[in-house]
Amino acid sequence: MTTNEVIQIENIDIHNAVRGHYAERAASLLEGAPAAPCCGDSCSCGYAAEELDRLPADAAQASWGCGDPVSLAALQPGQRVLDLGSGGGLDCLLAAQKVGESGWVIGVDMTPEMLSLAWRNAAKAGLRNVEFRHGHIEKLPVESASIDVILSNCVINLSPDKPAVFREAQRVLRAGGKFAVSDIVSDSPIPASAQADMISLAGCVSGAMTEADYLSAIQAAGFDDVRVADRKHYAQVPDSDVQTYSVRVEAYKH
Ligand SMILES: C[S@@+](CC[C@H](N)C(=O)[O-])C[C@H]1O[C@@H](n2cnc3c(N)ncnc32)[C@H](O)[C@@H]1O
Repeated sequence: MTTNEVIQIENIDIHNAVRGHYAERAASLLEGAPAAPCCGDSCSCGYAAEELDRLPADAAQASWGCGDPVSLAALQPGQRVLDLGSGGGLDCLLAAQKVGESGWVIGVDMTPEMLSLAWRNAAKAGLRNVEFRHGHIEKLPVESASIDVILSNCVINLSPDKPAVFREAQRVLRAGGKFAVSDIVSDSPIPASAQADMISLAGCVSGAMTEADYLSAIQAAGFDDVRVADRKHYAQVPDSDVQTYSVRVEAYKH
């Protein structure tokens, strides 16, 4: 077996572990259980209450995010928006309200149960300018240069191939497009033992890159003006001194 084949199998294992974790959470909301918002108990997603109040309670509470990428994106009517790892659809619905009927929002997620939840929430919110596609953020089911703004909320840390995600984001954005995400990064490299802990990884902790590596990988994909807008402590990595932070990052494709 070649080194590439070994890495490929590890990526599939991570996708399966993460998909299983979020499939359970989505299925429980689809079956009527009360929401337990955000990736972990310690985060507050940071949305303005008046934004959430415009959505049905079910949709507003179906959140596993770690920040508010929608306000960072400063969306305008008519824009085409893509959300990487759209989950229950909250950021897509907030974005759909902002871009209006002349705009369009696409959410991509690899977990079928999350896609069902997102479609249900969009229908409850009465929004028709949003769609949800099944796919991986490392190989987006989206046409090149077709998107004005990319959002993502607490998802890229879960990817086993983050540079591929940033390259795909660069491919699908049009020139002048904006990348505005909320995600988890660490202050130092995550120990290998923690990286192998699929529960901590699926909980958005031990899959994190260091902040410096995260910003470099975005730049390496071709983005300019890469900037951390804000940063908040998130969690300590189990059995280590490593700390993770929820950051909001913006960048542009020129
Ligand atoms: C922590 S939840 C965040 C969901 C949503 N962004 C939110 O803020 O509520 C992570 C979501 O990303 C999806 N996901 C994780 N890795 C993915 C990947 N490689 N490709 C596509 N979706 C992925 C999961 O299925 C899950 O719905």
